Amino acid sequence: MIDSLGAPQSVLALGATSDIAGATLARLAQRGRLERVVLAGRPGPHRDAAAERVAATGVQRVEVLDFEAGERSSAPDVVAAAFDRGDIDVVLLSWGVLPDEAAVRCDPSAAADLVEVNYTSVVTALLAAVEYLRVQGHGVVVVLSSASAVRGRASTALYGSTKAGVDSLASALGDALYGTGVSVVVVRPGFVRTQMTAGRRPAPLAVNASDVAEAIALNLTGGSRTVWVPRAMRYVMTGLTVTPRALFRRLPI
Ligand SMILES: NC(=O)c1ccc[n+]([C@@H]2O[C@H](COP(=O)([O-])OP(=O)(O)OC[C@H]3O[C@@H](n4cnc5c(N)ncnc54)[C@H](OP(=O)(O)O)[C@@H]3O)[C@@H](O)[C@H]2O)c1
Repeated sequence: MIDSLGAPQSVLALGATSDIAGATLARLAQRGRLERVVLAGRPGPHRDAAAERVAATGVQRVEVLDFEAGERSSAPDVVAAAFDRGDIDVVLLSWGVLPDEAAVRCDPSAAADLVEVNYTSVVTALLAAVEYLRVQGHGVVVVLSSASAVRGRASTALYGSTKAGVDSLASALGDALYGTGVSVVVVRPGFVRTQMTAGRRPAPLAVNASDVAEAIALNLTGGSRTVWVPRAMRYVMTGLTVTPRALFRRLPI
């Protein structure tokens, strides 16, 4: 169970090698209650290293599961396997790709692959996790959306469209779950310095993975909600959503 201070005992992280997932697990382990972590990701040295890092924080049970977001049944299978072995307090959905926009925009097949990884697999994981948590009677799904979900930009049109779909579904499901003991926390970071953004020029208000982890750790109690990282991003995006298109398309973002 998650205690009143928001410290969970068990976490399932899909996106085992994600920098944001790693920082979040490290942050949650600091509280000393974390007993079981299930890391779902593609097999290999990066996943092995992620498991070693979690074990080094003192977590007693560290399990790994194979997860390939491009395979339709993979996410629900992972969720089922994790819950079959015991309760899960927090399901963290933290995977995805940020492709080169120009390349994927002229390749419909690559665009469809992106949708499969960034959207379809999140839908299947989210629906499966919510059902298991409802049966269990408690728990939180943390969904990594993005500030880019709020208004599509030409520079990341396809990525942003997948995040818009994820954000819309997760927010609505969170509302539908009100009063059930299960909640959905939708996280909307701006630019985060991780492997995903390596080599890209940091945007204004850029943060580190540890900042996202801190925001997640502080929002595991209190029901379904939307968490902006940094908080000021909320006001920036609110302004951008009402910016006229003729002006918006000229902005260097
Ligand atoms: N970084 C940012 O600026 C930013 C901003 C807003 C939202 N987000 C979101 O935050 C989440 C985590 O991103 P991050 O910054 O932590 O990125 P990251 O460090 O690059 O991690 C991406 C993760 O996605 C996994 N992945 C990619 N394709 C996969 C596939 N086909 N099957 C299974 N796993 C796959 C990677 O696994 P492998 O190691 O196997 O490749 C890795 O674990 C993503 O949803 C991202 O969209 C990031």
